Amino acid sequence: MMDVGRHPRIELMTNAVLEDVTGYVGNFKARIRKKPRYVDEDQCTTCGDCVAVCPVVVPDEFQMGLSSRRAIYIPFPQAVPSAYVVSAEDCLGRNPIACGKCIESCEKKCINFDQEDALIDIDIGAIIVATGMDIYDPTALDEYGYTRFVNVVTSLEFERLISTGGALGGHLGRPSDKKRPLRIGYVQCVGSRTQDPDRGNPYCSNICCMNSIKGAQYLIDNYPDTDVTIFYTDIRAFGKGFEELLMRTRGHGVRYLRGLPGEVREDPHSKNLWVTVENTTEKRLEKCEFDMLVLAVGAVPAVDTEFVRQMVSLSKSPGGFLKEAHAKLRPVDTPTKGVYIAGAAESPKDVRESVTQASAASSRASILLQKNHFAVEAITAVVYEEPCTRCGQCANVCPYGAIAWEKKQIPQIISAACAGCGTCAAECKFGAIEMRHFSDQAIYAQIEAILEENCQEKIVTFACNWCSYAGADTAGLSRMAYPPHAFIIRTMCSGRVHPEFVWYAFQKGAPVVLVSGCHYVDCHYIDANRSTVRRIDGLWDKLIKMGIRPERLMLEWCSAAEGGRWQTIMQEAEKKRQSVTSEEIELTRAELSKVRVPRPRNPKPADENSAAQFHCHRCDQLWDGRFNVEWERICPNCRSNSVHWLRPSH
Ligand code: FES
Repeated sequence: MMDVGRHPRIELMTNAVLEDVTGYVGNFKARIRKKPRYVDEDQCTTCGDCVAVCPVVVPDEFQMGLSSRRAIYIPFPQAVPSAYVVSAEDCLGRNPIACGKCIESCEKKCINFDQEDALIDIDIGAIIVATGMDIYDPTALDEYGYTRFVNVVTSLEFERLISTGGALGGHLGRPSDKKRPLRIGYVQCVGSRTQDPDRGNPYCSNICCMNSIKGAQYLIDNYPDTDVTIFYTDIRAFGKGFEELLMRTRGHGVRYLRGLPGEVREDPHSKNLWVTVENTTEKRLEKCEFDMLVLAVGAVPAVDTEFVRQMVSLSKSPGGFLKEAHAKLRPVDTPTKGVYIAGAAESPKDVRESVTQASAASSRASILLQKNHFAVEAITAVVYEEPCTRCGQCANVCPYGAIAWEKKQIPQIISAACAGCGTCAAECKFGAIEMRHFSDQAIYAQIEAILEENCQEKIVTFACNWCSYAGADTAGLSRMAYPPHAFIIRTMCSGRVHPEFVWYAFQKGAPVVLVSGCHYVDCHYIDANRSTVRRIDGLWDKLIKMGIRPERLMLEWCSAAEGGRWQTIMQEAEKKRQSVTSEEIELTRAELSKVRVPRPRNPKPADENSAAQFHCHRCDQLWDGRFNVEWERICPNCRSNSVHWLRPSH
């Protein structure tokens, strides 16, 4: 922290809150609210005269409420800058000044209650999100008696009790009487690895086992006469040196008892704790007495994680932590280009892992910043000006905020931010957005080709590139047999599937249409598949209104590893296909041709060789030319092939 504070190229903004982030890779803009300290940090010598006279005493958050602080204080001993700060919430009054004793006592005149919030706008090339984690609050787990029994503490509170800079100055004492506890019990997996949402989270919090073992080793080293018992379901000591530490504590007499306490009771006089537990190794009920019980609480996402996630357009894992772009190949990247994640923001992790990931994230960011160009995928959206009604609907659904739109203006695609999911193209009712390499024309052509012959035997299947298409691959590679009637149309994301594609398939005689994508929280384009759900819901409603069986349109989620699930989906789809008669298909076609007005398709020049205006994405060049087989190839200015045609020219 000191090094960071002194580094000439790092600007450390303390007491500051990130309010907004806009822009895209290499060109982010952040708005930061810097809150006042009410103390001039350059002048403050931390003499402590102000603290001595401050009449306000409140629980110290850093010491988990186990000791107190004043309204003017240093948040924690290693805080940078080393200067006092006035807590606006706790101070008796600054405007008008209600007490002012700190001002009077400060010889250097560092205290200034006239300071105000400052809004700072900065330009940023890359962002590293490191919002950390919080701990699970075990109050809801009634059997442990946390908050009812004073000597039941969380592992973080225990850490503050034994720390040399802690609430008791490094002398181990239990909260009730500050006497040294001679029998200490640890309860593992508190709020972790449970399927009951009222009792915590389903994931393993990664750090709790080793934290308890480290605590046990500390007790052995410093208070060898302490009896330590650890209640566990299984100990997870993977990692360099961890198993050895576990064995060392076992060798020094720490008792590992397999089973979690069913009940904790307090002796009202001694404040000792009686723990009833089923020893599942020896298959017997045990009652143990402790002076103090430590709950090894799990980790949960930091309270601001969701706010930051929405601000910089990131995905989240089921547990609420931020999700990396790829768990194995891009573990510190995020789906948003130029944004990286480090530490427990991504998942619970210990110091060593956090430092490793932070180094990796910094390296990724510096690689990006050292280049003077940034390569983007060619699969991006383009807007056709002519059919565009300037409604801005595309900008609303873009998960990346990659469409700049102002009222009554043509939306502008920011190619550097566009990830190519195609949600905007699927949202546009006017055929004004095209996805390069996954054009509407190409998809319509595939539907036509599939249903050209024997349409009654075909299942038109849209599969997203990352999960369901890969799931189908896995099924094939694993030699899983499934009915051969599904014909897959690959899209980058299920969000690319325009309702019109589904109508078109039914109109062409498809008995069943299947839309498949990544599991709900696994979409590789943040949350683009939420739009898929919304669209399919709308389609089901319309099918019902038209008297068409809604089950003929299927929506399924399948991950890349779920070959078996793909097989089941295919079997299910095949059953539905067999239930659709040729009369039903004909009735559907007739019904659709009666009521449905086809959506305008992306504009196309009248014929080969007609005059058209073209645009280059790379250099923004506009030129008139002829629409022929070569039209999309080369920009006359920069020779790039990032070219699309804008409109026919006359
Ligand atoms: Fe698979 Fe979005 S990438 S559904």
